[in-house]
Formats: sequence, structure tokens, C-alpha cells
Amino acid sequence: MITDGTRRQFLGGIATASALAALPSGLGAADGGEGYWQTVRELFSFQEDRVPMNAANLCPTPESVANTVTDLTRSIDTDCSFQNRERFVQDRETARALVAGQINAEGDEVALVRNTSEANNIINNGIDLGPGDEVVIWDQNHPTNHVAWEVRALRRGFTVRSVTVPPHPSGPDDLIGPFRQAITQKTRVLALTHASNVSGILLPVRELSAIARRSGIHVHVDGAQTWGALDLDLKELGCDSYAASAHKWFCGPKEVGLLYVRRERIGDIWPSIVAPGWGSTAETELQGARKFESMGQRDDAALSALGDTAKFHHSIGPARVEARVRDLASLLKRSIADIGARLVTPVGDQLSAGVCIMEVASERRQLLFDAMYHDAGIAGSTSGGFRLCPHIYNTGEHVERAVRGIEKHRSLWA
Ligand SMILES: Cc1ncc(COP(=O)(O)O)c(C=O)c1O
Repeated sequence: MITDGTRRQFLGGIATASALAALPSGLGAADGGEGYWQTVRELFSFQEDRVPMNAANLCPTPESVANTVTDLTRSIDTDCSFQNRERFVQDRETARALVAGQINAEGDEVALVRNTSEANNIINNGIDLGPGDEVVIWDQNHPTNHVAWEVRALRRGFTVRSVTVPPHPSGPDDLIGPFRQAITQKTRVLALTHASNVSGILLPVRELSAIARRSGIHVHVDGAQTWGALDLDLKELGCDSYAASAHKWFCGPKEVGLLYVRRERIGDIWPSIVAPGWGSTAETELQGARKFESMGQRDDAALSALGDTAKFHHSIGPARVEARVRDLASLLKRSIADIGARLVTPVGDQLSAGVCIMEVASERRQLLFDAMYHDAGIAGSTSGGFRLCPHIYNTGEHVERAVRGIEKHRSLWA
């Protein structure tokens, strides 16, 4: 149950009627109260009895972005001539520039790949490593940033050292210490996850990057759970490469992802797929990170719609998106704790972001997950416990409904 105090704190800024009237065309100007977010929710086409709360896995796109993908796909099918497809070259560059601007990267440092899995694999396949070299990973990394390193290690003879952090860290130092201990003079790569999909823990990537980069270690970050959720500044974060998927928190088209590689590191990383666009070394230098996205015919409609999604984020403002994600996540976590359930995810902005997971015994997770979907109309996930990831298309009522549903099915977790 959500307490009155919690609800008052959350619903503190209900938008006025006049602000609401201005919203659809002027999202940036309105006051950001609950009425504002109701208007944002209405830009998405999901039904109220099938509410998505699993942004860590897949998000809906705003209806306008979905329409762009459909319209452009239809246009290609109606006329697939080079003449009709000429616009996509420019659309892709526009999307790249918009996305790069939002994360404080240069356009040449951003490759538009297919997803985080691919971006992680470009890095773990593309860095030259051999016997005597060590790669330090977090044991909570996704398989594409974990098992993939182990597979490459078998082939190339380097060593992978896996780091475990305390399950209930009391502050960032608890997370920094284990990595600091694992780094040796042989460490060449530190492969992290910004926010874990199985615990919700947010790693202090800025501090870890600073430690590693001082020793010339390449820092790769899987940002699947932070791009589109947090107001990112990759230069400030200080990593060498960063991977993410547009179809998660960014609410973008499906099967579009990004791989950021810091300019100085691009030349040292081999592409996984060599297709037209890769070119000679000199050309590659000119293309920057584009060399990682040359993989033959792409889904041009989806790549174009990425630009529309970036404009959508811009219209709300990445800082406001982050604040909303954090507000909903902390409302959810406090309310789950209030009804007596135990959280896997730490509370507090320094230690977590949008991913919220509660403890549920593995044999009962599927039952709760199904009950929440069929009974409460909330689509969650069983990753790491029972996982809910509210996002900007969710309202306070959705979160309240989720908590009521969890409370109703107490027998499945208490
Ligand atoms: C941390 C993390 N990395 C990578 C992925 C893979 O994302 P995708 O399937 O979009 O490649 C996921 C998916 O949930 C994830 O949570």
C-alpha cells in the first residue's frame, strides 16, 4: 500500500489545466506534474490493462515513432529505388548527430549498430588481447559482456577475472573496492555494466573509469539500463566505449543500438563485420566509429526513426526524464518496502537508477509475474527476483496498482 505521505510527496506538482492544454506540442515548457506525465503517457498506444513496466527489457515507442517506422517501411516497399532511399543517408547522419549531442559525444564517435549485445561483442571481439593480458569484468554483466569475454579468452589465451560486489552496498566505496583489488599490472580492459539488470545496482562508473584509465586500461560500459533513463554525459563518465539499445529505455525503434567509442580508441579496435564502408585504414580514420556499423543492408526505416526518438527525448529534456525515472523508482521501492517485501535493489540515487527488483523465491517468481500481468495488468519480469522498471509512460496510478497487486499476492513472496 502507498502511504499518504509517500503519495503527497509524489503528487506534489499536479499540472494546471492551462499547462495541460499546452502539452502535446510543448512538452518542454510545462511544469512536470502528474498531469504532464499523463499527457506523455497518452503519446504511447498501450492499453491500460496491459501496462508495460519492463523497460530493462523492451519499451514501447511513442505512437509517432511507430508511425514513422511503418510509413517509411511502406515507402520502401512501394518504391525501393535508390532515388527513393536517398533520404536515408541524411536521416542516419541526423539521428547520429542528435543521439551524440544528447550523450555529449561527437558524431564520429557513435556507431549505430543493432543492439547492446552486438555493441558489447564488437568490443570484446575487436580489442587485440593475448596470453598474459587480463580482463576484469563484473559478475553481474550480461552474458554478451561476460560469457563473450570468456569465449574470446579461450581462443586468444588471455585471462578473465570476475568481480563480485556486496549484495547490499552501503555506498559507492563498497562497489569500488572489489574492482580496485582485481586490477593488476596485467589488466588491459575493465568491462562494466552501468546499471545491472539482475540487481539494479548502479556502478560508480566515473570513479572506476578514473582509476582504470590512469593505468591505460580500456573501460567498456554496457549502458543498456541507462541510455534513455539517465541524463548521460559520456565525457564526464570517462569510459572508452559504451554500448546500448534504442528499444530499451530510449523508447526507440527495435533493433537499433549504439556503440560509442572514444575518438582516440577507434583505431585500436577491429570491426567484427567487414562490409562496404569499412575501407582502408586511411578511410577508416575518416569514418570514425562508422566502421563498426558497416554490415550490409540495414533497416533504414528504424534508423531514421531513431532521430525522431531523439527529438522526442529532447522535447521532454533528458534531465526531466531522469528525474521522473528516479521519482517513480523511489516511489516503487519505498512502497514495496512499506508492505514488508525485501528489495534486491539498493535505495538511493547513488546506488541505483530505474531498475527495481524485489526478492521472490525462484520457484514462485513465475507465479507472481503471471498474476501481476493477468490480474493487475502490469507486465514485469522475473530477472533477479520480481523486476519492475517504471518509465516516463507510466503514471503514479500504474505504480500504485503494481504495489496493490504485489500486496494482494503476498502469499507468493512473503
Ligand atoms: C545489461 C544488459 N546488457 C545487454 C542486454 C542485451 O540487450 P539487447 O537484447 O538489446 O542486445 C541486456 C538485455 O536485457 C541487458 O540488460
